[in-house]
Amino acid sequence: MVKDSRISGFYKLTREERVARLLELTGLDRKEAAPLTDPGQVDMSVLDHMIENVVGAMTLPLGIATNFRINGRDYLVPMAIEEPSVVAAASNAARIARPHGGFTAVDTGPLMIAQIQAVNVPTPFAAKQRVLEAKEEILALANEQDPVLVRFGGGARDVRVRVIDSAVGPMVITELIVDTRDAMGANAVNTMAEALAPTVERLTGGRVLLRILSNLADLRLVRARATFDAELLGGEEVVDGIIAAWAFAEADPYRCATHNKGIMNGIDAVVIATGNDFRAIEAGAHSYAAVGGYSSLTKYEKAPDGNLVGSIEVPMAVGLVGGATKVHPVARACVKILGVKTAAELAHVIASVGLAQNLAALRALAAEGIQKGHMALHARNVAATAGARGDMIDRVAEILVREKKINVERAREVLAELQGGGE
Ligand code: MEV
Repeated sequence: MVKDSRISGFYKLTREERVARLLELTGLDRKEAAPLTDPGQVDMSVLDHMIENVVGAMTLPLGIATNFRINGRDYLVPMAIEEPSVVAAASNAARIARPHGGFTAVDTGPLMIAQIQAVNVPTPFAAKQRVLEAKEEILALANEQDPVLVRFGGGARDVRVRVIDSAVGPMVITELIVDTRDAMGANAVNTMAEALAPTVERLTGGRVLLRILSNLADLRLVRARATFDAELLGGEEVVDGIIAAWAFAEADPYRCATHNKGIMNGIDAVVIATGNDFRAIEAGAHSYAAVGGYSSLTKYEKAPDGNLVGSIEVPMAVGLVGGATKVHPVARACVKILGVKTAAELAHVIASVGLAQNLAALRALAAEGIQKGHMALHARNVAATAGARGDMIDRVAEILVREKKINVERAREVLAELQGGGE
């Protein structure tokens, strides 16, 4: 747990200095940090056992977003992503939320849904009733499959049944609702669904085909909100511009896809860093956004005092136990950096980052346009590549941007000129 995530100028440090600072702030030791700071230190035999036909690893940059304060706690947030500007933008938005207390996040509990598809059911509506009448038997059988989950306070909680029309006739869909605690829960619910198949066949008189979880995890929602300071955003015009940008997304699916993509830039980066299933999160987010007509996962409003209030609601099926989160050494280090103790706490952080990311994108789009920030960051990277360090990075970058000549050769010349000039 970090005392204060507000670190100004983190980007100005060298990578080695950043690592040292991170270890100091989080208590992560050198050995735990090694696979994260040096991909060559990742034990390949661990990766070899994660998937099939392993030949190597694909390494992504991992950055730390600063300034996050969520439910009164500070977090340094590891983000794995190939896209420039994302980490800086999230940190910047989190800074703008800090004067008003940062983010407040809640969740609806770790409830996952498994679906059991029965076809060729002679009397679908009567079958639906028979399944519902057998709820206690179904829950007991499901819970027998995972005594460990039950011991940790989780387990099957409810059964619901829908008769749906399809291209091949009516189907009876039995849905098992399972509290998966700190697990993402795919294995647990899929095992339960498979075990229930014979019972569902007996009760419906039909044939069971699919037995699989739904990624539309709308019983496992996370909600986060924050007040973004109008002055730090750039004034009333920018606030109004952000609201209009959001309204554009709500009104138009072409814009909304990009708007939600920007949210997922932040969400996925933390999901990947913590070894969670980002495809599941993507599927959940976009399908949830599509319920009732594709719309924004975030909302924006202007408070009476002129500040901007943003909120997000999104399914968040992430876990802390099992899967890559437990076995991948980088994911383990990232969980330690975050200091989260439950999957729900991780979900709170991820949703807050999604909101921050969206706010940052809309602010840039509504104010100066997205390319300016990209160019400034690119110029800083170029300056660093040319050998600039500390404050010199910004000084060189500024000149490169002004001259619109962002290349390493010019950066070297500018650096030499500045250093020759008494530095
Ligand atoms: C780029 O990865 C994300 C943005 O396009 C999001 C948006 O347009 O809101 C900047």
